[in-house]
Amino acid sequence: MAVIVIVGAQWGDEGKGKIVDVLTEKADCVARYQGGHNAGHTVVINNEKFILHIIPSGILHKGKPCIIGNGVVVDPLSLIEEIEGLKKRGIEVGNNLFLSKNAHLIMPYHSAIEREQEKLKGSKKIGTTGKGIGPAYVDKIARIGMRTGDLLYPEIFKEKLRTNLTHVNLILKSLYKAEGFDLDDVYREYMGYAERLSEYIADTDVILNKMIDEKKNLLFEGAQGTLLDVDHGTYPYVTSSSASAGGACTGLGVSPIKITKVIGIVKAYTTRVGEGPFPTEIKDSLGEKLREKGGEYGATTGRPRRCGWLDIVALRHAVRINGFSGLVITKLDILDGIKKIKICTAYKCDGKKYKEFPKELHLLERCEPVYEEFSGWEENTSGVKKFGNLPKEAQSYIKNIEKMLGVEIQIISSGQKRDEIIMTKELF
Ligand code: IMP
Repeated sequence: MAVIVIVGAQWGDEGKGKIVDVLTEKADCVARYQGGHNAGHTVVINNEKFILHIIPSGILHKGKPCIIGNGVVVDPLSLIEEIEGLKKRGIEVGNNLFLSKNAHLIMPYHSAIEREQEKLKGSKKIGTTGKGIGPAYVDKIARIGMRTGDLLYPEIFKEKLRTNLTHVNLILKSLYKAEGFDLDDVYREYMGYAERLSEYIADTDVILNKMIDEKKNLLFEGAQGTLLDVDHGTYPYVTSSSASAGGACTGLGVSPIKITKVIGIVKAYTTRVGEGPFPTEIKDSLGEKLREKGGEYGATTGRPRRCGWLDIVALRHAVRINGFSGLVITKLDILDGIKKIKICTAYKCDGKKYKEFPKELHLLERCEPVYEEFSGWEENTSGVKKFGNLPKEAQSYIKNIEKMLGVEIQIISSGQKRDEIIMTKELF
């Protein structure tokens, strides 16, 4: 029996979707613990590409229950579209999907408010996905959020909505000079969603803890990454949820003492979407080359991702925050053919050297990376299935990362497909 948390170790888009998909083979259930449809998890099965936004990628395995936990924020229309899209492609979605009663709903006014806030911030904008994620979490913390469980009680839902719209419309109309929302329109729209989603709404904490008692294998899937975590990321250029390992406990209602492993997913280089500091960003043609070869465009928004070298300073921070028991390296093949590969081992700022990730944004923004250089490899590593079959230089790159971080690398992903993987350790 194992309860494994999968966490992005960088700024998201590390390739968690594929790893969750592969590990689901031996899992009895997969649960997502935070974020919303700002995430996009890409999985390729038999040359068919699936992009999942809030349903755990475990759904692609027949008969495995999947849970959307209380820590997730749910846009009901987007979820319905995701369910329908999967069904159309022959994927079973029915009594294998459970949506927490306590998961908060993204309401239409959340994206409207976010749009206005981003506009007002001008050059200081976060560069959000525009999906209303931040404002939905704001309402949750402000104790005025609407939850999926409310969809089951129309009268209660309408009353809460009435109270919320009084404030929301005042803010939208008076402050932002934008359009407000009509109570009956929103109510009707959401009752339509209630009809479609009520079959999935459940007490997911009860289901999960029962499975833990039954000694089942569970996989908990995070979205985004540690550096986008609202507490431990590059605040305020972060998402609004707890993407790091701790979020799995609060976001699912599972005690920390039940977690048996925390696995960090690390892309062989670094990417980031949206604004915010990125010390190892490559601003020349090599950055563009990585973007093109790695298909580094947002799975949700299509925005080009900023690309850079691997950053050990940031990764050490992620190791500390999450307590990784093992690591997975993804997209190693994207580095094929690069003559010299750099790894950032420290930062420099105002003549001072930093080995630890600075908490101060104004400092981090001015940090220059200190690099160690490694020989690249000419050979094509995509599809390699044994560590020993990797070019010596690629082996050495992996070994160096392991040594610098002090955590074992247990899986290496060598391509998009399920079987393009090197497993040096069975996790379940
Ligand atoms: P939000 O999550 O839409 O509020 O966006 C906040 C920040 O997180 C922005 O920089 C987004 O680009 C980034 N972000 C949100 N979701 C993802 C993701 O799944 N991958 C990478 N970046 C993300």
